[in-house]
Amino acid sequence: MKNKNYLFLLLIFILWGCTEVARNSNDDQVIINSRDSWKIIQEDIFSQNCVDCHSAGTSFANQSNLVLTQDVAYNQLTNQPVDNQAALDDGLERIGTDGLSSLYKSYFWEKINAPDKEHFFSDHHNYGSLMPLGLPHLTNGQLEFIRQWIIEGAPETGSVSDTTLLTDTTRFEEINFSPLAIPENGIQIHLGPFEVQPNYERELLNYTDLDTSGYIYVNQVEITMRPGSHHFILYTFRNSMPDLLIPEEGVYRDLRDANGNFNIDNLAVMYYHDFFAGTQWPYINRTYPPGMAIKIDADKGLDLNSHYVNRSDDVLIGEIYTNIHLVDPTEVEHIAEILTLNHNEFELPPNEITTLERTFTFNQRMHILQLFSHAHEHNLEFAVEIAGGERDGELVYISYDWEHPPILELDPPLTLEPGEGLRMIATYDNWTNDTLTFGLLSEDEMMILFGYYYTD
Ligand code: HEC
Repeated sequence: MKNKNYLFLLLIFILWGCTEVARNSNDDQVIINSRDSWKIIQEDIFSQNCVDCHSAGTSFANQSNLVLTQDVAYNQLTNQPVDNQAALDDGLERIGTDGLSSLYKSYFWEKINAPDKEHFFSDHHNYGSLMPLGLPHLTNGQLEFIRQWIIEGAPETGSVSDTTLLTDTTRFEEINFSPLAIPENGIQIHLGPFEVQPNYERELLNYTDLDTSGYIYVNQVEITMRPGSHHFILYTFRNSMPDLLIPEEGVYRDLRDANGNFNIDNLAVMYYHDFFAGTQWPYINRTYPPGMAIKIDADKGLDLNSHYVNRSDDVLIGEIYTNIHLVDPTEVEHIAEILTLNHNEFELPPNEITTLERTFTFNQRMHILQLFSHAHEHNLEFAVEIAGGERDGELVYISYDWEHPPILELDPPLTLEPGEGLRMIATYDNWTNDTLTFGLLSEDEMMILFGYYYTD
């Protein structure tokens, strides 16, 4: 009997051992999953979504001059000029290998980045179609996986993107514009409807006095816009703004007149703007993690900035709803505040290209949640890198478009230790015969970095 029991136990151990083996082979699968990121893109994404069209000899491959089969795809994509003429003229390449700065110069990324769809078509009507042509968009997980791979320098070998991202199989869906319900605990702002004339870009400001005083604590911002919107930004006013300058409520203050010239009257007010929230997409719902809120000084109300692009021959209607959800500050563990790094003592000599550099060092640990640059029309490039510490020199933000700098969300936050900071490096082309300095007029220049941060 005892022996039998012993044998039974032995059998169990052997079986247990077998399951161990099975576990090991599972582990092997984990190892398989840490295939080179590029391989995953090629084998799991391109083969199913792109290769049918982008194979040597097909009319599609001839039309795009792009073959995405395994043998040649990497060389066809990386550090290669684009075939599309409009994108080539805009200085884009297919995929550069310089990391973050390459992301914003990548025509390939523009072609697959479905959440940016409206922008893609309204800004770049000669950029062709979104890819994969005629098929559902890539999943949000696949897009984020590819985005990380580009930010890591788009290497041919090495596992640089997080494979768990691929479990997100949701896809970008266009949300039809409809009014938002009024938030239970919050503020709703409704801009419009207003007209945008045919073949015209209308950018305007509109002031709203929030009927609140002091600080508000925001843990969610939801924005929805009628189609055709290029961007929408909510600015607070700095406390230093003279009350005299507070604009009249609800009045549409167009930034340019019918001939495209700047309305100077608006500019003085813009000097006191602090970036609060905004989007370049038709719909966003930005929710902060439980226990976190953005602290906003809403005393002086909000200035709304809307930019609509109408490329049709008919009048277009602009309209935007914003819901600002509020929380009680006592329920908040991390209070994030607006970061404003402003370099305002500089000179740009006439008829020269000048690069300005300015480092801001923090004396406490900072967790940065968002970055957004601000400059005027002479700005060619606005880069931000980490200053000090182990990551000294690492590029964390770049904009090549002074009018529409990217709003970069940092999730997880970028944490900087005391003594570390951010270095802004901005290049300007002063094509005028006068020295330019910091100032408000469009001929003057600015070098400001906005964002949110919290401390421990
Ligand atoms: C139904 C066929 C089809 C499918 C599927 C397809 N493409 Fe394309 N692709 C085209 C055509 C046609 C063009 C050229 C016209 C255009 O740019 O819209 C093109 C152009 C491109 C370009 C621009 C090349 C250049 O330098 O101008 C890129 C990048 C691209 N495709 C990537 C992809 C990727 C990545 C996928 C898969 C996720 C994909 N395509 C799926 C047909 C297709």
